[in-house]
Amino acid sequence: MAPRTPNVLAILLLAVAPVTARAQQARVASPDGRTEVSVGIRQGRLEYAVRRDGRNVVLPSVLGFAFRGAPTLRDSLALTDTARASRDETFTQPWGEVARVRDRHNELRVGVQERGALGRRMRVIFRVFDDGLGFRYELPEQPNLGEFAIDDELTEFALADDARAWWIPSNRPRLDRSEMLYASSPLSVVDSVQTPLTMEFRDRKTVAVIHEADLVDYPRMFLAGRGMESRTLRAALAPLRDGVKARGRTPFTTPWRTIQLADRVEQLAPSVLGLKLNPPSKIANTEWIKPMKYVGIWWGMHLNTYTWSSGAQHGATTENTKRYIDFAARNGFGGVLVEGWNVGWDGDWIQNRNAFSFTKPYPDYDLPGLAAYAKAKGVKLIVHNETSGGLANYERQLDSAYSLYRSLGLDAIKSGYVADTVGGNHSHYSQVAVRHHRKVVETAAKYGIMLDVHEPIHDTGERRTWPNMMSREGSRGQEYNAWGGEGGNPPEHETILFFTRLLSGPMDFTPGIFDLMLKSSGRPHSPEEPRPRTTLAKQLALYVVLYSPLHMAADLPENYEGQPGFQFIKDVAVDWDTTRVLEGRIGDYVVVARKTRGKDEWFLGAITDEEARTIEVPLSFLPAGRRYVAEIYADGPKADWRDNPLPLAISKQTVTSASRPTLRLAPGGGVAVRFRRAE
Ligand code: NOJ
Ligand code: CA
Repeated sequence: MAPRTPNVLAILLLAVAPVTARAQQARVASPDGRTEVSVGIRQGRLEYAVRRDGRNVVLPSVLGFAFRGAPTLRDSLALTDTARASRDETFTQPWGEVARVRDRHNELRVGVQERGALGRRMRVIFRVFDDGLGFRYELPEQPNLGEFAIDDELTEFALADDARAWWIPSNRPRLDRSEMLYASSPLSVVDSVQTPLTMEFRDRKTVAVIHEADLVDYPRMFLAGRGMESRTLRAALAPLRDGVKARGRTPFTTPWRTIQLADRVEQLAPSVLGLKLNPPSKIANTEWIKPMKYVGIWWGMHLNTYTWSSGAQHGATTENTKRYIDFAARNGFGGVLVEGWNVGWDGDWIQNRNAFSFTKPYPDYDLPGLAAYAKAKGVKLIVHNETSGGLANYERQLDSAYSLYRSLGLDAIKSGYVADTVGGNHSHYSQVAVRHHRKVVETAAKYGIMLDVHEPIHDTGERRTWPNMMSREGSRGQEYNAWGGEGGNPPEHETILFFTRLLSGPMDFTPGIFDLMLKSSGRPHSPEEPRPRTTLAKQLALYVVLYSPLHMAADLPENYEGQPGFQFIKDVAVDWDTTRVLEGRIGDYVVVARKTRGKDEWFLGAITDEEARTIEVPLSFLPAGRRYVAEIYADGPKADWRDNPLPLAISKQTVTSASRPTLRLAPGGGVAVRFRRAE
């Protein structure tokens, strides 16, 4: 098998057909025939609709654009031509939650033209897969549409059902944050929300997830409800400073608008629709791009025992970093993240974005010396680049910083964009910010650097094209359990993340807190304090449940010493051949099994919300006829996230694919299992 070459079974261009006055309709179905998209003109407007198994999923929904300084391109349209194509090819991801991805789809391209004097043209391309669909606009080069400013993308999603939607809000145009807690409600009361937006239809036969793919030179998409109990959502784009959403010139292509479809929520992951709608890798040799686990000088800052800034409590000192490097080397970690190593943190670092230097270390941090020290121990420093949203300041230093890191043999960066407003009042997610992030990924690729981005633009599958774009935050991670309001993240949080945020791509959640009462913070503990609201076993299970190719063991090294549960963090894989969701309900619980990439080894992670649960799990995912040793890390007697999170029961059992072990999850608990070959 030659896994890296795409296996093209069939790419078939079927027909390009001019459209007669009568035929103002076209249809395209998924390869399995279950999903059908129809596209047509109604009262001069171009609309699309989606049906699955003969049931309506999306009712006729309008397509088009409102421009600044030019008439809207939506009305008095006529269909001019259609073209069809089909594809069936399988590609291998250099790393991921699944190795092989089959891109099998039918494509329909629909051309339309305005009937008026301007005669402007656009095309919409639909690709229909068995697991959903994507569509994007193409604005061809033409006399009456050259340079343009989009005021609004008029795309609608008229959902056929008042489905239960799982969402985080986005109703503060310039202050959109992804780091919020999820809510769920009927779709008809949704106001303004972020994607991926997961919706469970009331017939219990359809789950739909709206998101986007291949976001390159355009703002990030949100979804706005229309109020008045409407089930229709509209694309809402993050604005530039002057309110314009996107500027460009023809020929121009928008990102894909995607609707992932499944019968049940358990079928949503692994979610690969977005990968299929991104171009293949532009990095020829991906050998250097390696998933890894890491530790770091990080949690101490969030507990307030270290500072990023210089002074007596400075965390990023040479001595302290050596201690972390030694710990990483002893325990088989690939990387050591060090935050607060570079000049710029003193004072109000969120406001002083232009003070950050990405090359100049603090005097008590010996960057070259530490890079060499780490290398000698088989570990790598992960360089931290907090930009505080200072895009221009960062861009000015990209080449000098990346060439410095490269010269020191450092090939991974964790970056951050904590400020809400980026680049002089453009939205944090504007076209300007999207361009910036693309530029950073491409520059990093040029220098052979992997990226883990905090406060990012949401993931639209760019890791297919740029596999050095590894992980990102873009959601409410563990850090909120150190300092967040509302006592941190509620016990249900990660059971929602799995079926929402994680569908877009990996998340650097930073699991692995063992000191669950945060004694190391020195703060007196009360149940209302922010702290991880999980048991210890659940912290372990999160390594399997929440996929990331860069997974942190987030606690202080001293909190792992002498802890038997630490063995699981050392053993767990970060790169997978396959992923199977065995059971789950959004907001309640989920059980996930994954097979280690290239190895006869499986892991299982099960997590629950505040409810205790007993789940019998058939191990039918294991290959038949082989014996495995199951190393089980379960909640111990009387474990409970509220007042007794630490009891951990570690046991071993020999199992086969016919075994059906019973998992017992404590309130806020979990189970983590490693399956290794018995022989
Ligand atoms: C927020 C990030 O999520 C966190 O990981 C980091 O430590 C701080 N910003 C400082 O950059
Ligand atoms: Ca953050």
